[in-house]
Amino acid sequence: MVEMSKEILFSRVAIQKRVKEIASQISKDYAGRELVVIGILKGAFIFMADLVREISVPCRIDFARLASYGTGSESSGKVVMTKDIETSIKDRDILIVEDIVDTGLTLQYLVDWLKERNPRSLKTCVFLDKRKRRKISFEANYVGFTIDDGFVVGYGLDFNEQFRFSPDIYIINTN
Ligand code: PRP
Repeated sequence: MVEMSKEILFSRVAIQKRVKEIASQISKDYAGRELVVIGILKGAFIFMADLVREISVPCRIDFARLASYGTGSESSGKVVMTKDIETSIKDRDILIVEDIVDTGLTLQYLVDWLKERNPRSLKTCVFLDKRKRRKISFEANYVGFTIDDGFVVGYGLDFNEQFRFSPDIYIINTN
């Protein structure tokens, strides 16, 4: 049987502090404008909820859902959209919000998809950035924390659909 333990990587206090810092930067960058914030389901739902409540410019909210099929934790590299946004984004300022960027394929797919619809601007905000796992060169505009490779859960992130609800972020160790 696989034994699993988890240790805390970012506490809820550290997360809250960092979310406020990112929101403050975003509020400055978009002062006097209105944002369309697009969360990628499911993982982004908690970060997005915290972030938009700290941003001081008005935000419209929408969601997309993307899946990359593969075996286990390895992505096949083929991203499929299973739920599109429902908002018109033409000539609007768009911020995509994501819990984690790993290979970069999911975010790059959505960026390319949304750019086709001629937004005024398009930026990305990720809470965790696993830079070493990139398969393509992708840079998010706003990053919460850069992390090493390893399986992280909590704050929206899951392991077999468990732990998304955890207010803290943990790293899982399997022995
Ligand atoms: C995770 C995460 C990102 C994506 C990042 O989603 O939430 O959407 O993987 O990986 P990438 O940079 O390698 O594309 P997942 O497919 O696990 O779905 P979930 O958000 O519903 O958990």
